Amino acid sequence: SKQTQIRNFSIIAHIDHGKSTLADRILDFTGALSEREKQDQFLDKMDLERERGITIKLQSVRLPYKAKDGQEYILNLIDTPGHVDFSYEVSRSLQACEGALLVVDAAQGVEAQTLANVYLALENDLEIIPVINKIDLPSADPERVKDEVEEVIGLDASDAVLASAKAGIGIEEILEQIVEKVPAPKGDPDAPLQALIFDSFYDAYKGVIVYMRVVEGTIRKGMKIKMMATGKTFEVLEVGAYNPHPVAMDELSVGEVGFVVASIKNVKDTRVGDTITDAVTPAAEPLPGYRKTNPMVFCGLYPVDSSQYEDLREALEKLELNDASLAYEPETSNALGFGFRCGFLGLLHMEIIQERIEREFQISLITTAPSVVYHVYLTDGSVLQIENPTLMPEVQKIDHIEEPFVRASIMVPNDFVGTVMELCQTKRGQYIDMKYLDTNRVNLQYDLPLSEIVYDFFDLLKSSTKGYASFDYELIGNKTSNLVKMDVLLNGEVVDALSFIVHRDRAQHRGRLLVEKLKKLIPRQMFEIPVQAAIGNKVVARENISAIRKNVLAKCYGGDISRKRKLLEKQKEGKKRMKAVGSVEVPQEAFMAVLKME
Ligand code: GTP
Repeated sequence: SKQTQIRNFSIIAHIDHGKSTLADRILDFTGALSEREKQDQFLDKMDLERERGITIKLQSVRLPYKAKDGQEYILNLIDTPGHVDFSYEVSRSLQACEGALLVVDAAQGVEAQTLANVYLALENDLEIIPVINKIDLPSADPERVKDEVEEVIGLDASDAVLASAKAGIGIEEILEQIVEKVPAPKGDPDAPLQALIFDSFYDAYKGVIVYMRVVEGTIRKGMKIKMMATGKTFEVLEVGAYNPHPVAMDELSVGEVGFVVASIKNVKDTRVGDTITDAVTPAAEPLPGYRKTNPMVFCGLYPVDSSQYEDLREALEKLELNDASLAYEPETSNALGFGFRCGFLGLLHMEIIQERIEREFQISLITTAPSVVYHVYLTDGSVLQIENPTLMPEVQKIDHIEEPFVRASIMVPNDFVGTVMELCQTKRGQYIDMKYLDTNRVNLQYDLPLSEIVYDFFDLLKSSTKGYASFDYELIGNKTSNLVKMDVLLNGEVVDALSFIVHRDRAQHRGRLLVEKLKKLIPRQMFEIPVQAAIGNKVVARENISAIRKNVLAKCYGGDISRKRKLLEKQKEGKKRMKAVGSVEVPQEAFMAVLKME
């Protein structure tokens, strides 16, 4: 029957090891692309890639494949997001598969994300097929990388496919191994419906489009369905699959992967990891593993031009339609006025949202330094969750503070081990383990406060290892730390948007660095401005920005109006990203200065 001919798989890889290129090749090989699309790709690769960024990357594709055994198979390639911020989404995508291609660069070898993704795949009991990619590179060393896969990951790599996605080598062998090794989906087409949601997307015309895998039963057009986590019910208007273009079908049965449209208005009703069931004869239980994702990193977003506050609210509302993990609520800052406190899955997620607001909605933003969620235990026995340093209670009321920690895995060549250990130490890291990957590379494990990673850890790691280190982490829970709130005063007044939480042992040092940095960033003004860092009432560092009388027009003698106008416009430009805080003009970078100090 049909079910035995289905193979569901993902591609897992470290960034840049060739996942997208390989996916393209597989599409080509199975004939999913028309001649025209292939030509387009040949002629205008950039454009098509951009287009595909939407049509393929965010979806699953259904590929017919006639194998060497003469039989027709349906291969469903399910895409996974490629970043640690989205590791829960990755794990749900993998749960929708029975197998995974593990792509490893033949020159680079196993990297931190490779390992993290393999663990997720193993947790989901997937059949893993190693693919050593980029064997066309002169620096490729497939035998060494095979050994690494065996030793570091513990997979049998004797059958690993040696491939070049770029040159089109090994593609057929990969497909044959998928057919041979990846098990067909199990399950009963007549059982009550259980379908796993692994992604969803808001479409202006159709409402939310849900990507799902049928695990038990069958989903049909016209059926009433229920989301088991939220209890919401909908009527199925359309089911189908992508080939890679959307194709409507009457039903999707057990083991199949595709999309569902059901006049769903809000992506928050279609949570990744939730189970869709039949509203009339529901399944007894949802599929295992669902959890609600919570934002990990918070920051304040304020419009530079305060008249754009409503525009910013609209932008966030629109972005939220398509992003169930974005959280926001209105917030007011003495320094910055009206804005929003926003919660993100991680730093990348935060950067993506900021960039989209600025680019797609043309709103210049002031962003405050990111913060994690602190658990503050008060002397009266209550516990607060603080995600905005400004809201930290007075020291006298606090018994102790806990902060989130991660276990970081850092892979690095021997030569940099010392440097990386030193960096981890300065970031309050606790050494856990060190393992040799081969004679020249090491996997270091450290427990680190998430707040330190949110700051500049990644940049420092890259610069101090000439880009050779790879890095991944997972949350391991909260630990008690000796933390204090540091305030910054400009011209004698606390600027709430500049407050931050810091370890007591580092407070003095950070305060000093920040004050020096602010002195450089804040332009001199008509009056002297003292810049102070303080813990409670105690000032720990101080600098003065001396006064200057600045008149740009003084430079152009006489009546060249156009030159004058240009200068004025230039000055206005320069001012755009300034925010008046009390009587002091503060540039945007100042609010992020706390991030880039060491
Ligand atoms: P992200 O999308 O950034 O996660 O990366 P990815 O893993 O999808 O890698 P991608 O397919 O974008 O490839 C990364 C780079 O490696 C690109 O410049 C590709 O052209 C190149 N590349 C991919 N496969 C091969 C290969 O087999 N040989 C060579 N020489 N280069 C390759």
